[in-house]
Amino acid sequence: MTSNERAIQFSLREDNREQQFSQIWVEELDDVFADVARYYDRANHVASLGLWNWLRNRFISSINVQSGEMVLDVCAGTNAIGIALLNKQPDLHIYAMDRSKAMQAVGQESARKLGMHIDSTIGDVHVLPFPDNHFDLVTLQYASRHLRIMDVCQEIKRVLKPGGHFYHCDMLRPASKVVETCYYAYLRFCLNFTGLIFRSSASANGCKEYFINALRMFYSADELSTMFREVGFDEVSSQTLLGGMIGYHTAMKPHDTQETSDQVTGQLR
Ligand SMILES: C[S@@+](CC[C@H](N)C(=O)[O-])C[C@H]1O[C@@H](n2cnc3c(N)ncnc32)[C@H](O)[C@@H]1O
Repeated sequence: MTSNERAIQFSLREDNREQQFSQIWVEELDDVFADVARYYDRANHVASLGLWNWLRNRFISSINVQSGEMVLDVCAGTNAIGIALLNKQPDLHIYAMDRSKAMQAVGQESARKLGMHIDSTIGDVHVLPFPDNHFDLVTLQYASRHLRIMDVCQEIKRVLKPGGHFYHCDMLRPASKVVETCYYAYLRFCLNFTGLIFRSSASANGCKEYFINALRMFYSADELSTMFREVGFDEVSSQTLLGGMIGYHTAMKPHDTQETSDQVTGQLR
């Protein structure tokens, strides 16, 4: 398959995801996260059977940071990544962006209690309000399924300095059908269980099936690697855990950044 054919294929899949989910993305997710913010971290500890911190530490340990670097955490939620990075390297300049004021309020309070500063921007990450070539690294954890991820990757590449790195971690669609079926059954159970014990709001309860369907229509680790290359990242590498249920990706913005495939995909929209 040529690069142009791959770009068309990704663009069609992204259109399909957007068609299926745009109403939820635009009209419902903010209400869901406004409710979830108060119990987000505790619910994830329960749902991950206590692996939540371990999974995050694994992601953080894959991130190479140097003194004084500029970091953008996209869809930062409750600032778990920003706080963990500041623990690792206290003189980083961390910028968090998320659309949910409630998630960021929890994140800002957590950072403040630890005497840390994280700059906060509230807004939709499909357009990043930052200049070109601005950040040394960009992180994105557990949110890609809610985004037109290819467009956001193009934005991430734009704001990264040449040679800067993008670190991504998310729940992915496992390549094996058997693992996939078990995964969705477990997720459905977790969503029902945590919804019950944390007394989720009607909006959060109403979105349970969305969380599974969003994963069903998402990408496997290999597909995501191909997409990152298509967007124009170099040195793309990935690791998966638990049969492909969780994926970690690293990618670099080329030093001689030429607008190539991202222009192609941009023209396809
Ligand atoms: C599952 S949480 C992940 C939070 C955090 N990255 C973490 O790892 O804990 C997903 C976050 O993505 C945010 N989000 C979803 N769509 C967004 C968009 N289009 N623009 C900005 N933030 C968005 C939500 O508000 C929510 O805080």
